[in-house]
Amino acid sequence: MYPSVRPRRLRSRPAIRAMIRETRLHPSRFVLPVFVVEGEDIANPIASMPGNFQWSVDRLTELAKRAQDAGVGGMMFFGVPDDKDAIGSGAWDPAGPVPRAITAVAQAAPELVRWGDVCLCEYTDHGHCGPLAGETVDNDATLPLLAKASLTYAEAGAEIIAPSDMMDGRVAAIRQALDNAGHPGIPICSYSAKYASGYYGPFRDAADSAPAFGDRSTYQMDPPNIREALREIAQDEAEGADMLMVKPAGPYLDVIAAVRASTDLPVVAYQVSGEFAMIEAAGANGWIDRDRVMMESLTGIARAGADIILTYFAIDAAEKIT
Ligand code: PBG
Ligand code: ZN
Repeated sequence: MYPSVRPRRLRSRPAIRAMIRETRLHPSRFVLPVFVVEGEDIANPIASMPGNFQWSVDRLTELAKRAQDAGVGGMMFFGVPDDKDAIGSGAWDPAGPVPRAITAVAQAAPELVRWGDVCLCEYTDHGHCGPLAGETVDNDATLPLLAKASLTYAEAGAEIIAPSDMMDGRVAAIRQALDNAGHPGIPICSYSAKYASGYYGPFRDAADSAPAFGDRSTYQMDPPNIREALREIAQDEAEGADMLMVKPAGPYLDVIAAVRASTDLPVVAYQVSGEFAMIEAAGANGWIDRDRVMMESLTGIARAGADIILTYFAIDAAEKIT
């Protein structure tokens, strides 16, 4: 009790604070999501995501080198194809932007761990995450298509396959397809607890993937639920997932902590486009200190229990850590 107990004693100078610090960020924990378009010499700025661009493969390799130099752990690839159709067949085109980007980054920045996001919404003309049956996504018809896309990315050099579609059974379907095709060593990071979130707005501009009608609430999770997240986690673990993701991150720190407590697998959190955009916008207005809030937001996500953080701040944050 006060006055014998004085917590301020351990805050008196930077070296003491550093010694007792409980959470430390490291660039190797960060994965940078990127958007890849067809064509050459393209860097289209994304208005709602300052500092982020839709890159053609040749320009993306420059960014990959910067990320590697900053010590960033990995890069996650999203495709923005020219042509779309009802079933999203561009997702398994070996000449599509993502397979080409993966191969090019493997050459240009071999230290970066290459993560292939697997979903069909960037490739379907209706913007949903799989082929439709009436007004909703046909779960079981989607599974073999996700498996095909996963194989295409694995064959291009993806080192982690990350399905973000939220179909039931996709981890098992992808695991089986990878194993049968001679890729038993490629891990799956499942977007296990992915919520139907308003925070994805800027991403859907960047990836041109907004649903043409309705929303994703018949497949992504309902934001009020946390026990359901633990059921999703257990299911994906049983199907053979190697890592488990919670998304978004900042508004779901309780979910990250609960997932951390319920599994021994690595826990991944995705600080999504809307979280990034809010910090950038408030920073640009001078309402908050952008760099300080960037680091604080990432520290909070790590403190909640995330081992790995997907973040559009990956390079900037890595450069601030020495
Ligand atoms: C697509 C996908 C989305 C994000 C990652 N993969 C958007 C969505 O589900 O509509 C969002 C990422 C972000 O907002 O940064 N399945
Ligand atoms: Zn999708």
